[in-house]
Amino acid sequence: MGSLVFVGTGLQLAGHISVRSKDYIEKADVVFTLVPESNAQHWVEGLNDNIVDLQPFYAQEGEIKSRRDTYKEMVAAIIDAVRADKKTVCALYGHPGVFACISHIAIAQAKKEGFNAHMEPAISAEACLWADVGIDPGKSGNQGYEASQFMFFKHIPDPTTYLLLWQISLAGEHTLTKFHTDSDRLQILVEQLSEWYPLEHEIIIYEAANLPVFEPRIDRIKLQDLPYAKLNHISTLVIPPSKKLEYNIEVMEKLGITPEDLG
Ligand SMILES: C[S@@+](CC[C@H](N)C(=O)[O-])C[C@H]1O[C@@H](n2cnc3c(N)ncnc32)[C@H](O)[C@@H]1O
Repeated sequence: MGSLVFVGTGLQLAGHISVRSKDYIEKADVVFTLVPESNAQHWVEGLNDNIVDLQPFYAQEGEIKSRRDTYKEMVAAIIDAVRADKKTVCALYGHPGVFACISHIAIAQAKKEGFNAHMEPAISAEACLWADVGIDPGKSGNQGYEASQFMFFKHIPDPTTYLLLWQISLAGEHTLTKFHTDSDRLQILVEQLSEWYPLEHEIIIYEAANLPVFEPRIDRIKLQDLPYAKLNHISTLVIPPSKKLEYNIEVMEKLGITPEDLG
């Protein structure tokens, strides 16, 4: 009987993958991969002879194709392998379920058809970010959004916490056919954010290194300069708090404590 496991390779070649996830890849009948970094892709290819790279499902040079169609085709290919009784593994970079829709869709579909399907946890860009930038998200809390979703919906950020905007290089791109935003859209995002953050507020463009020999990119710029910043598909925007945490006196009174009790 076929089965399906999604695993994550982490962000750095070979060193970030869990022992269990590597084992699943080695023992699979077929391994689908979406690991954009070529060294990491070659490394996975060395673990199993039956690899299917999902990258060609994306629009090719000169082609206009919605990523929605791409994801449907990827899921269909994966589910076909499960239906053909194959022990199927799909390896995505980072964490396979973090800002990655095909894993959630394919697992739900496989389970609906009665197959065993699950996801292994892995090291995401966010896990690397806390380590590289030296932030403990427990200190004041954190919020994370896909940048375009943040723009299209009425999300209300809490400026006392860290705010992460994923896929910042696609901010405001609604057609799902292009792979980059532009400075006009980023200017609209800056205006939106200025409701909570001063234009001079320091923000960070973060890119984890995908090889151990490289350094991460941690560029600190002013919010107002975002439209002119160099953004890549791997950039994540970090907006540090602009305000101090405020005591919730009402709740604290109910608990019978005062700010002084917190030391
Ligand atoms: C489609 S999501 C995939 C996330 C991935 N599943 C993970 O667990 O990190 C792509 C977004 O993840 C973030 N990302 C991916 N690689 C990154 C890197 N090397 N450094 C920082 N952020 C990264 C960026 O926000 C990027 O636009």
